[in-house]
Amino acid sequence: MKNIYKDVLNKLAKYPERLLHVITVARISESLAIIHKVDSNKAFLAGLMHDYAKYNENLFYEKYISSEDLLKYSNEQHLYHAISAANYFKINYKIQDDLYDAIKNHVYGKIAMNPILKILFISDSIYLNGKNNSRYLYKLATKDLDLAVVETIKSNERYLAKKNMQLAKKQIDTLNYYEELLNGKIKTNT
Ligand SMILES: [Fe+2]
Ligand SMILES: [Fe+2]
Repeated sequence: MKNIYKDVLNKLAKYPERLLHVITVARISESLAIIHKVDSNKAFLAGLMHDYAKYNENLFYEKYISSEDLLKYSNEQHLYHAISAANYFKINYKIQDDLYDAIKNHVYGKIAMNPILKILFISDSIYLNGKNNSRYLYKLATKDLDLAVVETIKSNERYLAKKNMQLAKKQIDTLNYYEELLNGKIKTNT
């Protein structure tokens, strides 16, 4: 863990805003994990690692993303930072599958998220939306993570609407799944 922490600090030292973001997201994730009885060390690490490759350009992406994925996501290149960071930490630190999955899918979430991913997904937004509704979203997340996932995406939807933009298909899939889960149409333990 120490190595990962130092690695992230060194990597983002040139980008103080991003460094503050990942440290804040890590701490928010850790606290939500404790409240919901999820592995808090893992949640903390997920927050630290998730935007590691935010400022890496093509060389890093070419090294840590398969050629199939580079092609597959060529129209969604904002996902490259998530995919490459997940692969970087898997190769260099042998992180476990749920952490890998969390880093890789933190941008849009997905259906049936593992607990670490769910917490990271919400925490990332709590900080990003901090000026508007972070306290509200955080309080919601302390009570119900599934409800907080839905609110995270809906607040993003409202933000995008102001710019005449829409949610991505994968975000809509995540939203629909968690709305159905909350309505009792899907039953799962995740
Ligand atoms: Fe990100
Ligand atoms: Fe982030």
